[in-house]
Amino acid sequence: MSNYHIKHLEEYYQVYRKSIREPENFWEEVAEEHFVWRKKWDHVLSWDFTKPEVKWFEGAKLNITENCIDRHLATRGDKTAILFEPNNPDEPSEHITYSELYKRVNQFANVLKAQGIQKGDRVCIYVPMIPELAISLLACARIGAIHSVVFAGFSSTALATRINDSDCKMVITADGSYRGAKSIDLKGIVDEALDQCPGVKRVLVTKRTNSEVTMKEGRDLWLQPLLDAASTDCKAEIMDAEDPLFILYTSGSTGLPKGMVHTTAGYMVYTAYTFKNVFQYRENDVYWCTADIGWITGHSYIVYGPLANGATTVMFEGVPSYPDFGRFWEIVEKHKVTQFYTAPTAIRALAKQGVELVEKYNLSSLKVLGSVGEPINEEAWHWYNDVVGKNKSPIVDSWWQTETGGIMITPIPYVTPTKPTYATLPFIGIQPVLMDEHGSELKGNQVEGRLCIKFPWPSIARTIWGNHERYRETYFSAYENKYFTGDGALRDEVGYYRITGRVDDVIIVSGHNLGTAPIEDAINEHPAVAESAIVGFPHDIKGSALYGYVTLKDTGESRDQNNLRKEINQLISDKIGPIAKLDKIQFTQGLPKTRSGKIMRRILRKIASKDTSNLGDTSTLLNPEVVQDIMDNAL
Ligand code: WT7
Repeated sequence: MSNYHIKHLEEYYQVYRKSIREPENFWEEVAEEHFVWRKKWDHVLSWDFTKPEVKWFEGAKLNITENCIDRHLATRGDKTAILFEPNNPDEPSEHITYSELYKRVNQFANVLKAQGIQKGDRVCIYVPMIPELAISLLACARIGAIHSVVFAGFSSTALATRINDSDCKMVITADGSYRGAKSIDLKGIVDEALDQCPGVKRVLVTKRTNSEVTMKEGRDLWLQPLLDAASTDCKAEIMDAEDPLFILYTSGSTGLPKGMVHTTAGYMVYTAYTFKNVFQYRENDVYWCTADIGWITGHSYIVYGPLANGATTVMFEGVPSYPDFGRFWEIVEKHKVTQFYTAPTAIRALAKQGVELVEKYNLSSLKVLGSVGEPINEEAWHWYNDVVGKNKSPIVDSWWQTETGGIMITPIPYVTPTKPTYATLPFIGIQPVLMDEHGSELKGNQVEGRLCIKFPWPSIARTIWGNHERYRETYFSAYENKYFTGDGALRDEVGYYRITGRVDDVIIVSGHNLGTAPIEDAINEHPAVAESAIVGFPHDIKGSALYGYVTLKDTGESRDQNNLRKEINQLISDKIGPIAKLDKIQFTQGLPKTRSGKIMRRILRKIASKDTSNLGDTSTLLNPEVVQDIMDNAL
């Protein structure tokens, strides 16, 4: 028996050791006992981090939807698979059973086929948090199409970039979306994007807001009539273990977003196994992850991981503040949620509201509280633990990335003793190492360095769509034979890890991963702007917020600064999305640069954080005089 469900600390260590000593045997047992395969693998793992190349379960044949849906029908057909909670609390929630999910996914898959989508085609999904979103991912997977979900808060330009990068043939969208008191014209955004996307031949539109939209003749079709006419059975396409399942974009420090490619078998095995253990999921639990399916958290821990375990997974359309800041807790009470997984930024926003809004509701169903997306600060950790968890629901501070596909460093609840702000121990099969700047591994405990992983795990991304060299360069070139995460971390005296934050030019704002370069590119498009630099600074709710230093052209200097600030933020909103707007914009005479012309962000970061007592080594600065000027005018 493989240890699919770990129940105490000794067992964790025992299983962990086995997973490290005999990784192939370990993962083979998990794969063998807990999934359905059309054909078993010929070989469990082959890998070479220098190329880099990683293959798990090579030769195996399967379809992930048979694992997430079909195999549950006999025992869990009437069990709720997806529990949809709408934005408006007066609208009824929807319980989609496994049998209904089967029918709806199959109908959708048949529609995709009828519209010309074949195995390997890319389909862009730009849909809000309604059941059709989860169903469209699964429908793609059913027929072997590669889904590329774009978070429905991204702008038309960001959407177009992603559609074109992976050459999507089709876009699935909705007429509009609800977010709290607002509604958003999604179809209008898609129309704007598609002016720049000649490859898209078909747009399927689902109805949510019943708002007025324009349907382009020959390109756009309403989804519902097609679904109604489609058969509820669709044979699952038999996929190879290493066939791509999806592409999901994440920001990089430079240039275009990176289309991370995840493949089928390894991703399925790892997300299912982590879901079971990290949330200690038991039959009849009601699990709720508040993320959007537009991010990796939603892919792995709203859709694939939970469904592969036959779980009930809640999908919430709304926001934590609507109709008031008690909404999350109202939903926990209403559906008797047992596992609740959210982001530190939400916890901090809710903690600001005072305890009455929490205490109003009965939260006694909760057994596990999860945190993800950014480091959780001490204060937020205690509030979550004490006020929400009443000191009886362990907090799982789970560290991972879009690139890792699944949770990597985390406590296992009721197994690993938690420690505030620590992600604690590596998950089964994960071999983290800390490296110093010179490329040597820091051995032993009580060390701090750059976090790398030295052995492959089943759900590691296999490449960047269309740019394998960038994949190698970004993740495998900094340290020989290691995957470099981009994060810093420390290991305490007992071997617990604490993630200290990004060490590259990625800034995490409210749990959203933002690269500085695309934001700077957007600002620089403003006709009055000469150049700009973005850094992060501490913010009590967002974790980090964005501070922009902007140098104007001569022609811009006479302009009203507040108007310029508005225009710059509007431009960012249009090019990327409102999440990338700057909190502060300082106009400067110049930017501090090295002799080779590189902007010294380190100094700008210190000024933005009001930490100017020691600016560090400034001897390589070409223009030290601008630093004083920037400090004098700092916001
Ligand atoms: C970056 C990845 C995968 C979850 C959603 C974000 C940061 C994530 C934690 C945590 C400290 C965390 C890291 C990581 N991060 N979880 N528990 N503690 N930092 O996915 O957008 O790919 O961002 O989020 O900096 O590298 P992502």
